[in-house]
Amino acid sequence: MFIKYLQNRVLLIPFILIAILSNQIKVHSQSINTNEVLLNTKIDSIISILTIEEKIAMCHAQSKFSSAGVPRIGIPELWMSDGPHGIRPEMNWDNWNYANWTNDYVTAFPALTCLAATFNPDLSKEYGVSLGEEARYRKKDVLLGPGVNIYRTPLNGRNFEYLGEDPFLASEMVVPYIHGVQQNGVAACVKHYALNNQEQWRGHINVEVSDRALHEIYLPAFKAAIIEGQSWSIMGAYNKFRGEHCCHNQILLNDILKNKWAFDGVVISDWAGTHNTNQAIHNGLDIEMGTPSNKNISKRYPYNNNFLGLSFLEKINTGEVKEDILNDKVKRILRLMYRTTLNQDRPLGSINNKAHSNTAYKVATEGIVLLKNEDNLLPIDTHNNLNIAIIGENAKKSMTIGGGSSELKVAYEISPIEGLKKHFKNVNFKFSSGYSSNANEAENYRLNNEALSIAKESDIVFFIGGLNKNSSQDSEGSDRQQYNLPYDQDGLIESISEVNKNIAVILISGNAIRMPWLSDVKTVMQSWYLGSEAGNAIASIISGEVNPSGKLPFTFPKKLMDNGAHYYGELSYPGNGETQFYKEDILVGYRWHDTKKITPNFAFGYGLSYTSFDLSKINSDKKSYSSTDSIKISCEVKNTGTLKGSEVVQVYIGKKNSKVKRALKELKGFKKISVNEGKSKKIEIKIGVNKLAYYSEKKSEWNIEKGEYIIYVGNASDNITKELKITII
Ligand code: BGC
Repeated sequence: MFIKYLQNRVLLIPFILIAILSNQIKVHSQSINTNEVLLNTKIDSIISILTIEEKIAMCHAQSKFSSAGVPRIGIPELWMSDGPHGIRPEMNWDNWNYANWTNDYVTAFPALTCLAATFNPDLSKEYGVSLGEEARYRKKDVLLGPGVNIYRTPLNGRNFEYLGEDPFLASEMVVPYIHGVQQNGVAACVKHYALNNQEQWRGHINVEVSDRALHEIYLPAFKAAIIEGQSWSIMGAYNKFRGEHCCHNQILLNDILKNKWAFDGVVISDWAGTHNTNQAIHNGLDIEMGTPSNKNISKRYPYNNNFLGLSFLEKINTGEVKEDILNDKVKRILRLMYRTTLNQDRPLGSINNKAHSNTAYKVATEGIVLLKNEDNLLPIDTHNNLNIAIIGENAKKSMTIGGGSSELKVAYEISPIEGLKKHFKNVNFKFSSGYSSNANEAENYRLNNEALSIAKESDIVFFIGGLNKNSSQDSEGSDRQQYNLPYDQDGLIESISEVNKNIAVILISGNAIRMPWLSDVKTVMQSWYLGSEAGNAIASIISGEVNPSGKLPFTFPKKLMDNGAHYYGELSYPGNGETQFYKEDILVGYRWHDTKKITPNFAFGYGLSYTSFDLSKINSDKKSYSSTDSIKISCEVKNTGTLKGSEVVQVYIGKKNSKVKRALKELKGFKKISVNEGKSKKIEIKIGVNKLAYYSEKKSEWNIEKGEYIIYVGNASDNITKELKITII
């Protein structure tokens, strides 16, 4: 038996080597499905000639950001890189220091909250393509992004890396992003799967959440990324779910991802997120990354100490673990390689070109959300001779540095003040930071006074503040410690409002903040972390060169306790140090505010334009539908103002008198449309009735409840123009 096994392997060697060397094992990323059988045969053949040691080496890191290939037969290494909105600078082989290369300057694209705020899936595709091109040029095979963890609390330090609070919006935006990245022969690695909704205690906190909230809120964007986006890899999260770390979690990785969703790609651990050899072997992990190396084990192979290193080898050698388990991991890794490094047809990529800057600019301008604009303070004509005070540290601070693993080394970054000075040639700008994130009280007192004196003499004040990617201010590894703005910016804004009424607050952040000064300022603009083109984008919106069209991808509660996760106290957020319970259940974000009738400062889906729109002729194609139908909602969008602009029509659906707990309404469709001033356009939004299903905990499957539903059509979750009744029969 054993002899026959060996013979089979030996017979295959010439075929494999000839095929590899002559590049016959060439599978174009797009045609994977049709060539799947052939590909699997080839992969099996390769596996048959690999030694156990070679296969084990492929299942864990060989450096901080790479895993081994098979040098003996020319199978290349896999190179990975952060991150979701730009390609991270090169790091040293075996530590977290930057390698100080000079060819790793990149374009910084706006962070993902901004991308979500565009409500524009086509733009998300463009974003993915550009980012993938930069990754490819930098010789990266796996891009560690996008992040799709749901925005549960405004304190989460990493919300800026994610796509907001709504699973439908996040799903619609993540799929084209992945397609765009992967068309470059670079794998997306969607992260952090799953329930990594806070940074505090992220390495060990155990999340307890109902099956409904899991499937209806926290998993859909991952599911869309895997099933529709066809993401070739996924990253496990740091935290635990139902007692097991997510990087080797039976329910998440085996039962759901690999079995239910038939994922055929690679599960990569978050860096140092692996904790146990047996679980890593059996519970779905394929490549272990980030576990610190140990040179005492072997100078040449210091990562052999990893959980999937020598201990795994020993278990195979003693027969405790079947080789099939190892082969399945290697099969997935080789499949990923055929999609990336072994795909001879993949494009070459490009970096820092005009097209990438344009994409960054477009996303930034489309994502900025105008929240308030009393007396039409904005836009400001670039020809006006005005005195404008720019106050706030964020007017000058680089926002591509800091924040953790998504930090970048940019080819260029236009700060807000640079952008404004470039656009407004006739304006006399005066600047004071007004506060400093690292000054003492006396210095801040001086800066406050300096700011007030220039505010007093100016026609308009631009307050450019917010959070700043320092630790606890929108940064990996720590949550925010307060909902208010830091460095007493609230006090400063209030003092400014006493000397000047024309204040525009330009908020740079990836999170909602408390706004005790809201009624004292005329304008509020949510400007995110906008990347290389930040200043240009901000100036284009302020000048009206671009009409704002961004919509909030998450709610801005008035106070922290108005948020569902916080309402239930410490056990819900941040937990007791060991465990936390997602007590608000399915009522996350606007679902909570709507259902509990808690008015936020600014609602999900909300955002102003310099023009106005009228939605009319809102109808559904039928009154009753079967479970396999699609509902078609038609609507006419009229631009009733004097400027061209874009509006996002949003369709929410709810069910009254349901037999299960429901949010009042949930986003099920949206369309962004550009309309010239005075003109109208008709749109249609199609929604599969299957999208109305809830996750039945009894049956452990999706279930469509029959009966009457209400369709809410509007341009924000709190601005509904029309309600329609339909019946599912
Ligand atoms: C982060 C990941 C990141 C990885 C590699 C981890 O700390 O959670 O998002 O991709 O480091 O830098």
